Amino acid sequence: MNRALVVVAIGIAAAAPALATKPQPTAAPQTKPEAIWRATCGYCHGSVPGAPELRGINLPEALIVTAARNGAPGMPAFHASEISDADLRALARWIARQPAPVKAAP
Ligand code: HEC
Repeated sequence: MNRALVVVAIGIAAAAPALATKPQPTAAPQTKPEAIWRATCGYCHGSVPGAPELRGINLPEALIVTAARNGAPGMPAFHASEISDADLRALARWIARQPAPVKAAP
């Protein structure tokens, strides 16, 4: 066998395990506030009569958190098992800072 080929083969064998280990993410993946909004709030708010648009009206973040945890008439409560505290804080922050959505032309 060609000496150079043997060296290359050993090199590949040695590198294989290193290539197989993928880098681990350093932090737990976080759901994007906008994705939570679309999946969990936006199908009512701004879409259904009686559920007011929450974006662009300067709602205090604390009110959004309280409303989400306790619910309201016509609105379910969202528990920590559904939206974590961290995700809810991020969502409230996101909602409070959103501009009013552009309304579709009539
Ligand atoms: C099933 C429909 C529905 C869903 C889903 C829903 N809401 Fe509501 N929400 C309502 C309705 C209806 C009201 C108005 C209650 C009232 O008039 O007293 C409301 C009220 C609110 C209010 C109070 C608004 C104000 O001006 O005082 C906040 C804040 C709010 N919702 C946040 C959220 C958030 C955050 C989510 C997602 C995690 C969400 N809601 C999901 C129906 C919904």
